[in-house]
Formats: sequence, structure tokens, C-alpha cells
Amino acid sequence: MSLISFNNISFIYNKKDPNHYDALKEVTFSIEKGDFIALVGHTGSGKSTLVQTLNGLLLPTSGYTKVLDYYVTGDKEIIKRLKKEKNIKKRELKRFSHLRKEVGMVFQFPEYQLFSDTIIKDVMFGPLNFGLSEEEAKKRAIEALDEVGIDYTYYEKSPFEISGGEKRRVAIAGIIASSPSILVLDEPTVGLDPNGKKEILSLIKKIHEKGTTIIIVTHDMDVVMEYASKVVVLKDSRFIKMVTPSELFNSKDLSNFSLEIPSFYKFKRYLADFGFNKDITNINTIDELVDKIGEKYGK
Ligand SMILES: Nc1ncnc2c1ncn2[C@@H]1O[C@H](COP(=O)(O)OP(=O)(O)OP(=O)(O)O)[C@@H](O)[C@H]1O
Ligand SMILES: [Mg+2]
Repeated sequence: MSLISFNNISFIYNKKDPNHYDALKEVTFSIEKGDFIALVGHTGSGKSTLVQTLNGLLLPTSGYTKVLDYYVTGDKEIIKRLKKEKNIKKRELKRFSHLRKEVGMVFQFPEYQLFSDTIIKDVMFGPLNFGLSEEEAKKRAIEALDEVGIDYTYYEKSPFEISGGEKRRVAIAGIIASSPSILVLDEPTVGLDPNGKKEILSLIKKIHEKGTTIIIVTHDMDVVMEYASKVVVLKDSRFIKMVTPSELFNSKDLSNFSLEIPSFYKFKRYLADFGFNKDITNINTIDELVDKIGEKYGK
């Protein structure tokens, strides 16, 4: 059984308002344990709305999101059915505190996530909230800060007096301190310089290698190409497809979804246009491409 499934979910903002907005329409797909998913699509396509159903921050207006053993839904008919068929109590369908420990969510703007007067207290907040003692919480916080590369000289600093990249690392530490099994990051590299971006991405990669399922929302196709195992495309509030990055970037319909082509695939297209006659259709890494070019020139 899948770790996560979106089951025909729709979400309407301001449902009762005449200006209501259908941010998600009948989205269905599933995510397996250990996946590294990139969620892409034009601005306003529904990415942030979709991920916020993963820990019950938003409840689908119809359909349900299933995460681990939890059913996240605001659909009265489904709630009725679940109570009847699976004997689930109504309050269990609303109590998401344990789910929030399992699904760590890092928002686009780390400022929204940081609130304590010192970094160490900020990172301890999650573990304390999930019932650990002060001492255990501090141990977890130190481990998490160590993992994101923030050393003890920062512990007593204010989280608001550090750089953008450091803020994001502290925000991630605050989430991983609770050892979530699923980590969701909404545009984690926005506003960072190339070094900051690389640091965050290698940190996410490391967390993934330890067994955490990763879902990352991004507009950066180079990130998708380099890190994701699968990519999910949304367009106009709808699920379009879930494919591997190379399937997406080798396809011809990229511009239909307002997606940039990664530099590597652009280069491949230039080579083809210039009449490079080795077959490079199925080449998806720079190393393989360099080998092909080498072959052509007898290197
Ligand atoms: N709180 C809200 N109230 C009303 N409409 C909203 C709200 N939040 C988002 N929307 C609308 O829902 C649609 C989907 O928004 P969402 O934030 O999920 O898109 P997104 O794919 O994350 O976009 P971006 O790439 O710009 O972050 C947008 O048209 C947006 O204007
Ligand atoms: Mg968004």
C-alpha cells in the first residue's frame, strides 16, 4: 500500500463566497515510501494547496488525502462512510497532532516558521510539543542543528538575526528534530545564492538517504533533474502526470505546462540542432554526454 495517496481531491478556497476559487480539481495519485518527489507547475497551479493537505492544515473539500493511517478530508459524505466502514471515530479524523510529527513541513518563508527568541529554543519547540522532556528535546535539537551544519556558537542567537540560508537551515532543523518520516519543503531554495542553494539541497539529499520520503515544491528544473526520483506536474488545479525527470524533459510538451527546460536538456537540443549525429536521446547525465562527445572525437 502507498505511503501517501490523494484520492480524487478537490479544494475550494472561500467556498461560501461568490468569489470562491477551485485550487485543486479531482487530483488522484500516490507516493511510495522513499520517493523523492518534485512537485512542479505554473504559479497558482495548486502546489502549495496540495501539500498542505498532507498534515491536515487544509482539508480537501471533496475526496480525501491518505497519509500513513490518516484520512484527511472535510468531505462530510466520506467522513460518514469512513465512520461506518472503518469504524473510525469523528475526532480521529480531526486530530492531526501525531500526523504533524510524521509529516514535517518547511514553508517557503522560513520567517513564518521561526518564532522563539533563541535558535536552540526554536528547534526544541517541536520535540517539546510532541511530549519529550526538556533534556531529551535539547539533545534532539543539538543533533538536528548539527545535521544542518549550525554549530553551538549560534544556539543563543536570535533566529531573526541570521542570513536567509541559515534561517532556512534552522527551520529545517526545527522540523527534523521531531524525526518526521515524510519531509515536505515548499520552494526551499528561493532567494538563496548558489552556495546556499547547494547546501540546502545536499542537506535534503542526506535526509532522503537516511530513509525519509521527500516532497519538494520547486520552479527550478535543474533541481528536479538532479535530485528527484519522480516529478509530478500540476496545471490549472489538475494533476497532469507523474513521470521520471528524464521522461519529462525528453518530452515535447514541456512548454504546455510553463516549465523551463533544464540547461542540460537545452544543451542536448543545441547539439542535435548543430547536427551532432550520435544518438543522445536516452542520455540523461552530463558524464554520459561527455563520453558520447568524446567517442565522436576519438577521445
Ligand atoms: N488563502 C487563499 N485564499 C484564496 N485563494 C487562495 C488562497 N491561497 C491560494 N489561493 C489561490 O489558489 C490558487 C492555488 O494557489 P497555490 O498557492 O496552491 O499555488 P502554487 O502552485 O503553490 O503557486 P506558486 O508557484 O505561485 O507558489 C491560486 O490561484 C491562489 O491565488
Ligand atoms: Mg506555492
